[in-house]
Amino acid sequence: MGTIRLDKFLANAGCGTRSEVKALIRKGRVSVDGAVCKTADQKLDLAHSLVCLDEKPVSYAAHEYYMLHKAAGCVTAARDSRYPTVMDGIRSSRKEKLFPVGRLDLDTEGLLLITDDGELAHRLLSPANHVEKTYFAKVKGAVSAQDIQLFAQGVDIGEKRPTLPAKLEILCSGEVSEVFLTIQEGKFHQVKRMFQAVQKEVLYLKRVRMGSLVLDETLEKGAYRALTEEEIAALREEAVHE
Ligand code: URA
Repeated sequence: MGTIRLDKFLANAGCGTRSEVKALIRKGRVSVDGAVCKTADQKLDLAHSLVCLDEKPVSYAAHEYYMLHKAAGCVTAARDSRYPTVMDGIRSSRKEKLFPVGRLDLDTEGLLLITDDGELAHRLLSPANHVEKTYFAKVKGAVSAQDIQLFAQGVDIGEKRPTLPAKLEILCSGEVSEVFLTIQEGKFHQVKRMFQAVQKEVLYLKRVRMGSLVLDETLEKGAYRALTEEEIAALREEAVHE
């Protein structure tokens, strides 16, 4: 199982962000194997150390976290009468508790986080946190420098307010253009509606990043893997607001 720093262990176990758990450690509220430990970088043996917060044992891996490379044609839901779902291939004894964080359209591919950690999901999806999502898109028509400017300013997609500033990067522009688009929100069909707002049509869409979490391109479409401790810790640290 290996070793891990005490502060990282507590953050991964859901006790707070890295800075919050460091404060808990400083205040003497954390013990390791029965002795109060005030050193955040203390190394723990994951298999044997007993960590307590306020004298209550902290269990590691209290949650499960997976990244799925969603394939087109499966629906982001736990159950569906017509289509296969993103949950169909997931094998876990806690499957009933797992859910996808946010949703991708039926025809969208790419990164989907699946977890049973409701608190982290809430924080990642909270509009206040502005967690960035990056998409690769193929778009009908020539995407231009003007589109970069319009997306940076915000476009009207029929909501109360224009979209928040988004970063458009053109990989190639022509009859079919290829782009990366990074947005800070997650409105329904947002990427497709943003291109509609500049009279263009998305032909293909794939999410490649959500916050610090990057799609592992070695995952085949439809395949998934558990997140690494580093990936979990990074997600916890960036989604800090309520
Ligand atoms: N924007 C879209 O239009 N569709 C998605 O699936 C995700 C973002």
